[in-house]
Amino acid sequence: MDVSAVLSSPGDLASADPAPPCTLVIFGAAGDLTKRLLIPSIYNMRQAGLLQDGFQVIGVDRVARDDSAYRNDLTEAMQGFASSTGGEFDPGVLDGPDWGWVRDRLSYQVGDLGDAETYEALRRRISGSCVFYLAVAARFFGPVLTRLADGGLMQEAEGAFRRVVVEKPFGHDLASAKALNQLILDKMGESQVYRIDHFLGKETVQNIMALRFSNGIFEPLWNRNYIDHVQITAAETVGVERRGSFYEATGALRDMVPNHMFQLLAMTAMEPPNSFDADAVRTEKAKVLQAIKPLDAASVARDVVRGQYGAGRLGDRDVPGYREEPDVAADSTTETYVALRLMVDNFRWAGVPFYVRTGKRMTQRRTEIVVHFKQAPHALFRDTPVERLTPNAMVIHVQPSEGITLNISAKVPGPTLHLGRVAMDFRYADYFNTPANTGYETLLYDVMIGDATLFQRADNVEAGWQVVQPILDEVGAGHTTAQPYAAGSAGPAAADALLERDGRHWLALGA
Ligand code: BG6
Repeated sequence: MDVSAVLSSPGDLASADPAPPCTLVIFGAAGDLTKRLLIPSIYNMRQAGLLQDGFQVIGVDRVARDDSAYRNDLTEAMQGFASSTGGEFDPGVLDGPDWGWVRDRLSYQVGDLGDAETYEALRRRISGSCVFYLAVAARFFGPVLTRLADGGLMQEAEGAFRRVVVEKPFGHDLASAKALNQLILDKMGESQVYRIDHFLGKETVQNIMALRFSNGIFEPLWNRNYIDHVQITAAETVGVERRGSFYEATGALRDMVPNHMFQLLAMTAMEPPNSFDADAVRTEKAKVLQAIKPLDAASVARDVVRGQYGAGRLGDRDVPGYREEPDVAADSTTETYVALRLMVDNFRWAGVPFYVRTGKRMTQRRTEIVVHFKQAPHALFRDTPVERLTPNAMVIHVQPSEGITLNISAKVPGPTLHLGRVAMDFRYADYFNTPANTGYETLLYDVMIGDATLFQRADNVEAGWQVVQPILDEVGAGHTTAQPYAAGSAGPAAADALLERDGRHWLALGA
């Protein structure tokens, strides 16, 4: 990771050199991911000066259409995207030179993903450096990777790279994740593979490392001697939308925990790496996940809560329950919420619980990490029992309002000594010009410059599945049930009990 481009003062945005010229081949040329995230990111990258002549996009899909129809289709998608960002993105810019530049570089290749002829046609069209982006359903990963390698498309000529980007899900359990990794490694080098976890494209997530390792004041406190426990929350207000059939087979645990939630946990708990080299960082992250105390049937029953949303009210509208959503079984047992109590068994974290929760249709959209510090050891204040002092907490707000809050106690003005709870607050928006960002710009740029720091290595992926596999086993054996919670609430009561048992509480959503 390039850490030389530091910001010297707020508002002074670091600028990066343009990525080397390459062809971006997108399998799944007209899918949701391409339209909502990849193409807008490419546009944003062009605007930020990160793309130069010699860059081109080839979209691959089964539907027959020519280049001009593809360009029109994506221009329309960009218009839709622009209006959905609520003014953040000006639709007028589509008439400007940057969209014109991107548009002129879009072309289309019709072809079936399982057909060798598709890859032969690509081979004839491409020369030099190339990124193959698999924006397709997971069942196509194996066939596409195999055809790319067997068709000679992954061979790197002198001075040119061939890289492949794989989106989650990386497998649906430990065995399938290992099989996918094995297939990848049989067909190409690990250094050619970029496993994307889009949470790592979020500025605030990247900032966890900056916060911890570039400020002398936090790291000395960042351990079992000063930290009581850590809470990691990813609460969403959306339901399963149009993804019912995908979600039925996936559930909140597979969808969010071994990937996004564990990335947040790893960033929070990892040891300082020797350097910001991709492998140094990824090694430390893998070590943390490998140190999580393995769960067994008894600890799954005790320390894991699954939930499923029922009908409820969100804001001023009534919303249906999960079982009433399209493509969801009327007797579905899939969880839409999960909470876990995990222990990281190493020197730094022995005895410090990490509580992790994520759910759909919750009262607030909020992703945050809350580091709860230990109680002050002694209360100097007459008639104030030490347990009445509120311990400090640091909240790292990942989204929607990115920033960091430190909750501390302060004297309430007046002749007597009363303590009040106050917050030291930093918000990104107050300090930095945050350019339009889908979260994919940094990740795409990193693939093009060959920086794998923010991508998962095979061992990171497998370490995540290793932790959740005992839960999947218990779910498969029918030993756990998803507890109901009302849409628009903070999750099932059992998740509150999980912390209350330890004398703790979740930080209220919206607090
Ligand atoms: C995706 C999950 O990976 O992450 C979705 O499949 C989830 O179910 C999404 O909604 C959350 O991402 P974000 O960036 O909206 O917090």
